[in-house]
Amino acid sequence: MHHPLGIDIGGSGIKGAPVDLATGQFAKDRLRCDTPRRSSPEAVADIVARIAAHFADDTGDSPIGVTLPAVVTNGVVRTAANIDPAWIGTDARDLLSHKLGRPVTVVNDADAAGVGELHFGAARDASGLVLMSTLGTGIGSALLFDGVLVPNSELGHLEIDGHEAEHRAASSVKDDEGLSWQQWAERLQRYYSHVEDLLWPDLIVVGGGVSKKADKFLPFLHLRTPIVAAQLRNSAGIIGVAWLASNG
Ligand code: BGC
Repeated sequence: MHHPLGIDIGGSGIKGAPVDLATGQFAKDRLRCDTPRRSSPEAVADIVARIAAHFADDTGDSPIGVTLPAVVTNGVVRTAANIDPAWIGTDARDLLSHKLGRPVTVVNDADAAGVGELHFGAARDASGLVLMSTLGTGIGSALLFDGVLVPNSELGHLEIDGHEAEHRAASSVKDDEGLSWQQWAERLQRYYSHVEDLLWPDLIVVGGGVSKKADKFLPFLHLRTPIVAAQLRNSAGIIGVAWLASNG
């Protein structure tokens, strides 16, 4: 049986897996390749093609979805906070569809993760406004209202206390500055309390690689909004983009 392929392009790794949309799980173990040091569109497209070729027997001609850590409108990349600036203005949908020889859906990484959590994870039964927040190299966000994605929200770039939020509170900053869980949680507290005052969400779901250690920092946070770890952990983007490529 063939399954859609999801590929998640991040600052350090490019990861892909065929996704069984009946269960929301990987149909096969994922493949991870390092992101090339110069993450230009061509270099990244070569790796995407390598991952697609690896899973060719599992995917047949099923849809392919790819995430990027950037604003993407109609397949065109509009920002590049954590990838090579050469992506700006690139029609990623066109580039990757040509490279792979079939249509490719391209969306923002956090938006894909939000859609994954909406259908198969922590936001499954949620109504009202859900904020998916991914903590990694940067801070990604997805807004989902009654199950409908409002794309490209970019709340990691909110300016708080004179700093861009992701420069203070991304999990990469915790590593770079050697912050303890509690010190980092203080920064997250400032960020999430600002965001909840602006948007009044009904639920915040925290994703990204560090979400597997959510018990180390979520207990420090005191918010009026319920805040939970992503159930799909760092796989949410792959699963969500496979769903979007098939249903979007
Ligand atoms: C980018 C977003 C992305 C987030 C997480 C931010 O710097 O602007 O588009 O979703 O990082 O990768």
